[in-house]
Amino acid sequence: MIGIETLDEFVIRKQDELPYAKGELSRLLRDIGLAAKIVNREVNKAGLVDILGTTGAINVQGEEVKKLDVYANKRFIAALKLGGECCGIASEENKDFIVIHDEISKNARYVVALDPLDGSSNIDVNVSVGTIFSIYRRASSGGTCILEDFLQKGSQQAAAGYIVYGSSTMLVYTTGHGVNGFTLDPSIGEFCLSHPNMQIPKAGKIYSINQGNFISFPEGVKEYIRYCKQEDKTTNRPYSLRYIGSMVADIHRNLISGGIFIYPATKDAPRGKLRLLYECNPMSFIVEQAGGRATDGFKRILDIEPKELHQRTPIFIGSEEMVLKAEEFMSDYPSA
Ligand code: AHG
Ligand code: MN
Ligand code: MN
Repeated sequence: MIGIETLDEFVIRKQDELPYAKGELSRLLRDIGLAAKIVNREVNKAGLVDILGTTGAINVQGEEVKKLDVYANKRFIAALKLGGECCGIASEENKDFIVIHDEISKNARYVVALDPLDGSSNIDVNVSVGTIFSIYRRASSGGTCILEDFLQKGSQQAAAGYIVYGSSTMLVYTTGHGVNGFTLDPSIGEFCLSHPNMQIPKAGKIYSINQGNFISFPEGVKEYIRYCKQEDKTTNRPYSLRYIGSMVADIHRNLISGGIFIYPATKDAPRGKLRLLYECNPMSFIVEQAGGRATDGFKRILDIEPKELHQRTPIFIGSEEMVLKAEEFMSDYPSA
């Protein structure tokens, strides 16, 4: 097609940049793209089909499971299993990682960590939701996958990406060679390259945080919020507060417009709310690849050594100058 490059074409054109297992990773990305289109179809019909609301179950995180969480989880797992390029999947919705046993997949070289539906509380009210994925080359040498394959530092990711089901649906991913964004053209059913080489502005005017929890934030975060609200023409303050409540959508907006997203430790959740493997690591890889910064307030997210699948971490992510400024306030109150 003249002038349009689809995700599949782009992935194949770029695969020579990759040092290893090129074809397999390309096929894995294609499988994820396919599952994304299927989930997108369902997200778009929400309200017409019986997919709104909760299942009545509580997941391993202690959170209410929405019907669309279950649907998206099933779709992504099915697509990854069928594709045969990954030997295991860790998902927000499954307590343990899933081992793919069939003969072709079990020796496959990749594992995937997945937040099948991010921001699921927004689905019932027609607000953007997302999917986040993180791909690692397995650490073990073959046979069925093991826990250590998933407990690798974020800096080891082979690829990461997200899909935002918004006013249009976009897939954004990186393999460590910059960040590219694709918009779904529903008339041809393809993700088409729309945002080549995405770069996050070095500074922005938006801060995104659930300020309703202010009272239980660490002192450094409180001070940073006060800073955001002060008037100062030279630094464009006061900043605007924008908080959708879907990490994917909040970070996607900041990636394009500039801004910082913070989910800090709180008194009730001293290790933060968001999960390292399938939320913070992939989003941090993307934001760093776009020229931004991501830390837990003190150290780089991608350098955290994971100890468990559903580990949580505070996160400060976005435009470099803004994250650095927030870290300055954090270091003034290292233990408060
Ligand atoms: P999920 O729907 O996958 O459980 O993730 C929800 C997360 C994240 O998307 C968002 O940034 C955050 O929860 C919002 O939490 P609060 O409602 O506490 O602000
Ligand atoms: Mn999430
Ligand atoms: Mn989720």
